Amino acid sequence: MCGIFGYTGKKEAQGLVLQGLRQLEYRGYDSSGLAVQCGAEELRFEKTKGKIRNLEEVLKTNPLRGSTAIGHTRWATHGTPSQVNAHPHLDSANRIAVVHNGIIENYSRLKEKLKKEGVSFRSDTDTEVIVHLIAKYYRNNLEEAVRRAIKDIRGTYAVAVISAKEPGKIVAARFDSPLVAGVGLGENYLASDVSALLDHTRRVVFIENGEIVSLTENSMRLMDLEGRAVKRLPSKIDWNISQAKKGGFPHYMIKEIFEQPEIITAILRERIKKEKHRSAVFFEELKINRREFGKIKRVILIACGTAYHAGLVGKYILEAFTDIPVWVDTSSEFRYRNPNVDRRTLVIAISQSGETADTLAGLREAKSRGAVTLAICNVLGSSLSREARGVIYTHAGPEIAVASTKAYTAQLAVLYLLGLYLAGIFHARPRKKIQDTLKEFFRVPVLMKEVLENYKRDEKNWAKNAHDFNERYHAQLKKYFGGGAIEKKRSPNGFFLYLGRGINFPNALEGALKLKEISYIPAEGYPAGEMKHGPIALIDENPWVICLAPRSKTYDKMISNIQEIKARGGMIIPVVTRGDREIRKLDPFYSIEVPAVEEIFSPLLTVLPLQLVAYCVAREFGEDIDQPRNLAKSVTVE
Ligand code: G6P
Repeated sequence: MCGIFGYTGKKEAQGLVLQGLRQLEYRGYDSSGLAVQCGAEELRFEKTKGKIRNLEEVLKTNPLRGSTAIGHTRWATHGTPSQVNAHPHLDSANRIAVVHNGIIENYSRLKEKLKKEGVSFRSDTDTEVIVHLIAKYYRNNLEEAVRRAIKDIRGTYAVAVISAKEPGKIVAARFDSPLVAGVGLGENYLASDVSALLDHTRRVVFIENGEIVSLTENSMRLMDLEGRAVKRLPSKIDWNISQAKKGGFPHYMIKEIFEQPEIITAILRERIKKEKHRSAVFFEELKINRREFGKIKRVILIACGTAYHAGLVGKYILEAFTDIPVWVDTSSEFRYRNPNVDRRTLVIAISQSGETADTLAGLREAKSRGAVTLAICNVLGSSLSREARGVIYTHAGPEIAVASTKAYTAQLAVLYLLGLYLAGIFHARPRKKIQDTLKEFFRVPVLMKEVLENYKRDEKNWAKNAHDFNERYHAQLKKYFGGGAIEKKRSPNGFFLYLGRGINFPNALEGALKLKEISYIPAEGYPAGEMKHGPIALIDENPWVICLAPRSKTYDKMISNIQEIKARGGMIIPVVTRGDREIRKLDPFYSIEVPAVEEIFSPLLTVLPLQLVAYCVAREFGEDIDQPRNLAKSVTVE
């Protein structure tokens, strides 16, 4: 989850490393630091608690000059967020500096052993054992010392190391935490994520598990843990740099929300081609052939967070387009069950980053049981994409905001296409139906754009509603806690309930997650049909109930649910199909309209207002939208 950035070349390293860390700040932001080789056999370092701007402030008055450096932005696992626990960590002589992402599982045993050998520790982190081990093995050969230290540790890691005695050199290693080297001219880079390298180079080398890389300004040497040379040509990354910038928007999140129609259009253009007067779906990079797919008897989708919600929508999609039974599981549950998968099971792992520890572990579990595995990933060359039998990239470009938006709709788009692709293989639906559905799909991004344009036109009103909510929310809080007596039978304050049915039910979960993530307001998503089995007890005039009620086969049932909430005084915000009259009669607080579309595609439209509600509320509350507290974009630890 932490971010690592390294530079070696001729330029001043400090600015470049800070710039790289800023790009990686979404991975963790409770403290940061960097270490620089400053001339003759000297390492200097600085670290601060809090965001990278704190580090920048300190370095403004006290710059660290030198052209080889490593930096780190932290998401705490072992040891509280503090200056002393921030990376880099240095050996007792301050001659070797290490930054690390991951968890060293056997660190307490190693620490005890090192202590007995006379080493004194400065921090509470697991990372510090790495630097002391390297120092212990160091005999003027950093690669060798790193190799020996790595052999002692168990767990997950991406580490980058510099030594005062070997100017111009960075040595790095990885196991289950992402690490990628960037190839420059007379300079080389290292980062946890490709997006941080795009300002400098498009030529990258993905470091594999159990590999060590040694960088100088003119060389990049890869080796395995036995020190044997590994050959790998750089890959070319064709992501657009501007996709990793805010491009005039105040936050990455809103920029990424607005990118969605274009991304879906690009996915459709790339994947749907004409073949003998018919449209067909193509996945060039897939690797699993049609014959292998033909043997599949069931599908299990695994994922975490927002990607899990995409998986839930995927179940509805795959069941609509094929007759194969489909299950969905959170990766963290799947991996510790006894999942009955075999070689006739297709396990689809969905992940924006392709580095989520639980999803990777779930994929490996499925592989070990013989399942055919397929990754749906956004980040090119990520661990998941390399380890799965097949891969489909979502090509949504770098997603920087921690709260995922464009990755979600891109995952849905790929799942629709996969459903239609499998429908063709299994002859599960008439050809004409598939053709009509593909045609309808092309309309969807146009309609998504309309939803976003409507928001733009009505932005003031959205802001006013968020403001009213804020006033009401805080008035209720005051009444509840400030007034002394707690009023009985009242829900504590304005929490949000999200209800949906059918293929829109997962969007209820996703809407609630978005709000929780960035505004810290309690929110719950529920299938509307389940409301009577519990959540209805929460309804009085306090909760704001967002009802996903586009035209669908369960529309009438949704109306009944809305009536039930109204009857108990709940405040309704329905998301309806444009022109809806019935729900208007129920006097909702504020209706949000989306254009009419075939029900199967409606989640791609109804999720947009949910993303916007979360955004507007968090902005009104003054929260840190792109970097919400305690969260990280990519969860590479369990
Ligand atoms: C974290 C992020 C979420 C994301 C989830 C899964 O919790 O904050 O936005 O949905 O991880 O990440 P993945 O990269 O596997 O999609």
